[in-house]
Amino acid sequence: MTTSPITVTVTGAAGNIGYALLFRIASGGLLGPDVPVRLNLLEIPAAVKAAEGTAMELNDSAFPLLDSVNIYDDVNQAFEGTNVGLLVGARPRTKGMERADLLAANGGIFGPQGKAINDHAADDVKVLVVGNPANTNAYIAAASAPDVPADRFNAMMRLDHNRAMSQLKEKTGTAISDIKKVVVWGNHSADQHPDVSYATLDGKPALEAVDAQWLDSYFVPTVAKRGAAIIEARGASSAASAASAAIDHVYDWVNGTKEGDWTTAGVASHGEYGVPEGLIFGFPTTSAGGEWQIVTGLDVSDATRAGIERNIKAAQEEIDAVKELDIL
Ligand SMILES: NC(=O)c1ccc[n+]([C@@H]2O[C@H](COP(=O)([O-])OP(=O)(O)OC[C@H]3O[C@@H](n4cnc5c(N)ncnc54)[C@H](O)[C@@H]3O)[C@@H](O)[C@H]2O)c1
Repeated sequence: MTTSPITVTVTGAAGNIGYALLFRIASGGLLGPDVPVRLNLLEIPAAVKAAEGTAMELNDSAFPLLDSVNIYDDVNQAFEGTNVGLLVGARPRTKGMERADLLAANGGIFGPQGKAINDHAADDVKVLVVGNPANTNAYIAAASAPDVPADRFNAMMRLDHNRAMSQLKEKTGTAISDIKKVVVWGNHSADQHPDVSYATLDGKPALEAVDAQWLDSYFVPTVAKRGAAIIEARGASSAASAASAAIDHVYDWVNGTKEGDWTTAGVASHGEYGVPEGLIFGFPTTSAGGEWQIVTGLDVSDATRAGIERNIKAAQEEIDAVKELDIL
């Protein structure tokens, strides 16, 4: 091990996703088996003690790649020198909470975090927003960091992508490694548009293996509503699969996607597929040299077009509501 440690800041570190995520980062899953990490954990003051407990366990795991674990309740200190920021902590929607209240609460978290990243993070910082509403929170953080290129702020769509892969595997028996070019357009919400139009299974078009009836009446709603199904079954929201998806997203961003395949990342639009510039949107993406490229030039069916439009509308409405609340 010769390289100096990469600083990874995780917000909401004492939460459920945090607990599943931190050990995988420390064991090399996020950046690779030869990259030492310095973990900065950000929590609210009430959860600092719990974060300290997690830090004790991280240290007790004696991970060779773990340089140090540092705990903060100060956003500026937590993002000092950050190379990778995983913004997990968010204000959940509680019973009876209006959308405006939810957006205001999260604006109060992701605005200051974006600013702290702008002022304190390393020049090469990469940020993945996991906390919901992820696409809008990523937009708020990016807008609060004018000196950081907007391309460095992503929203996590990888869990939706992985869920789509899992449904295809279950239906057709194809190994995950032989399923390629799935995409989930749009937002991490029930509006999302999981799409197998371009997907291949063992090199053959997925559309030859699955019929429209299954896609419309089972696949799309199962993927889009999987979060609710997990809550119903587990009595708690998805945590380990969300952590695993965050690991996949950053690993691919840093190390590149596989030749002949793409993944889904929520990245800032430059106008691709008619998505307004700046919206952080799930697209088919490849990565090379630490940068995402949106796959362009795909033929878009009427159903996909409608799915993209539905997601643009939902994302735009949320951002308009944020602007009305004077968060931005
Ligand atoms: N994008 C996705 O695919 C996806 C999937 C699953 C969950 N999520 C979202 O991830 C978020 C976290 O989920 P969880 O199950 O870990 O929740 P959790 O409630 O278990 O943990 C959240 C943690 O965030 C902390 N926190 C709150 N405000 C903070 C702030 N300002 N700074 C630092 N920490 C703060 C809390 O103290 C808590 O420890 C939720 O918003 C959830 O909806 C997203």
